[in-house]
Amino acid sequence: VLQVNTKKAVAPIQSTMYGLFFEDINYAADGGLYGELVKNRSFEFPQPLMGWQTFGHVTVENDGPFERCPHYVTLAYPGHRERRSGLVNEGYFGIGVLKGEDYRFSVWAKAPNGEARIKVQLIDEGTLEERQDFATAHIDINSNGWKRYEVKIHSPKTDNKARLRIFLEGQQPVSLEHISLFPVNTFRNRTNGMRRDLGQALADIHPGVFRFPGGCIVEGEELANRYQWKNTIGPVENRPLNRNRWEFTFEHRYYPDYFQSGGLGFFEYFQLSEDIGAEPLPVLNVGMACQYQNWNDANAHQPVDQLDPYIQDALDLIEFANGDTTTTWGRQRAEMGHPEPFNLKFIGIGNEQWDSMYYERLKPFVTAIRKHYPNIKIVGSSGPYPEGGEFDRGWAEMRRQKADLVDEHYYRDEQWFLHNGLRYETYDRRGPKVFAGEYACHGKGKKWNHYETSLYEAAFMTDLERNADIVHMATYAPLFAHIEGWQWRPDMIWYDNTRMFKTTSYYVQQMYATHKGTHALRLTMNGKPVAGQDGQDGLFASAVADKAKHTIIVKVINTSNQPQPVSIRLQDRKSANDVHTLTLCHTEMDEENTLDNPDLICPVAGKLAAKAVKGSVIIDDIIPAKSFRLY
Ligand code: AHR
Repeated sequence: VLQVNTKKAVAPIQSTMYGLFFEDINYAADGGLYGELVKNRSFEFPQPLMGWQTFGHVTVENDGPFERCPHYVTLAYPGHRERRSGLVNEGYFGIGVLKGEDYRFSVWAKAPNGEARIKVQLIDEGTLEERQDFATAHIDINSNGWKRYEVKIHSPKTDNKARLRIFLEGQQPVSLEHISLFPVNTFRNRTNGMRRDLGQALADIHPGVFRFPGGCIVEGEELANRYQWKNTIGPVENRPLNRNRWEFTFEHRYYPDYFQSGGLGFFEYFQLSEDIGAEPLPVLNVGMACQYQNWNDANAHQPVDQLDPYIQDALDLIEFANGDTTTTWGRQRAEMGHPEPFNLKFIGIGNEQWDSMYYERLKPFVTAIRKHYPNIKIVGSSGPYPEGGEFDRGWAEMRRQKADLVDEHYYRDEQWFLHNGLRYETYDRRGPKVFAGEYACHGKGKKWNHYETSLYEAAFMTDLERNADIVHMATYAPLFAHIEGWQWRPDMIWYDNTRMFKTTSYYVQQMYATHKGTHALRLTMNGKPVAGQDGQDGLFASAVADKAKHTIIVKVINTSNQPQPVSIRLQDRKSANDVHTLTLCHTEMDEENTLDNPDLICPVAGKLAAKAVKGSVIIDDIIPAKSFRLY
């Protein structure tokens, strides 16, 4: 019996609950969410022609029009009219195009002799067809100075692994820089926008908060390749390339061509947060490189007395987000097309760092931010430890420094998730609030996205909900992974170049986020506090009221192998209308959604009769084995 006290709210549910964590890992930005289809569009990779194949007479030069991206190519007549000069871009594991969609090709070009012509084509691998090209456009270059040219290309077919081919027509040379190909239909039709299907999947969660840009990429494995937000704003043509910290991982996966173009930069992150209705939560470097690579190496980090530029970056970021158009950084935001402030409320300083090296660096950030922006809430870190030792010391220090929230991370196995059903009941209510910033069940040591792990995540999340007074934010493991280029599992959404699928963990997050209610309610199970270690007979539950919609929502997770009867009693409720249910249920624990079978395991809507008895509404049900049901 689940008894829900519908009159007495335990605590309001924060609007930031059930958010998203975006990290540029697993080709999540370039090659993923970011709509750009051309790899190494500015020829700035360490070998300028990485990602490109050339033919005929092609040279690389480096005195181009964009100071921070100076490389470009020149195509010249190859000496015979039956030959061609040109280049082919391989994209990210190919270029994905969809039948019937338009693509915007753009290029900066100059013709030293005042005029030249190029042909632009989408080509396939051409193994069976007579022709490789399936879409073609021409551009006349009409100036000997650098100018931007643009043409639309219509794709008559879907191709997951197309290529972009450009070649010189005629005998007049041409120089080309920042060669770009974007779907016209991006998410919310933004130029320099996001892949539509992936952006929509984010919006469909109705996330409360959006944490970006990482993760370990905030730190870099050395400070030189830490994430520097100022390099990611302004014209995309002049955003310098950064080496991605995830080019090589401890899982021994190696992607020598993993770089960050910065095309999806801080302006775009803020805009995306707005587009999906989430509070932005940027995380900045605290003056430390990733501690995993630099354990006990004080020299890898910025000396404490030389943190000023890092602290200034944090203050400037707040001005960039919130300053009016008379301020230096507010003006830059306005020039990029967003004169209104982004209304930033939270800032994270440091990712997953701990020990005295972190604490002494965090302190001057806190002082400076409090002084200039007392209303901004500061998110500190407790490191990657989920309990005891360093973790407790981290929390104690965050209390001392009066951080507003503490970012906890836990990637743990099945048993941990089942045993932590009462994790937050014992947390000290007087200090900072909890931000569960990265968590996921690493099932069977294999760390993949099978159904069983998401069920245990759902069970654990009842505790986040019941402890709404202290848990103010929660974001799952990294969002995205390209099926051909990943370093980290589990993730929420997987894709190739034309398709995507939502994992069952995505659906768990969505079920919580779209039914989060406004107030947590007290409930008991068989007269005792609900949950406990391993739940009660494998049952976990939580309940919320949505005061705006005048509804009560109860979440029950049955982690046991048997169907179980449940009787939900909503006290002080009279109306016994039919109850809507939403159920995530599957019998094969190791199965998962895939690109070929994306809807194998999805929530299913249903209805149940309820009855009114002596001032309560009673819902009797049998909850299937290994299932998550919302009432
Ligand atoms: O999510 C992948 C990594 O896990 C993040 O970069 C880091 O914060 C955590 O260790």
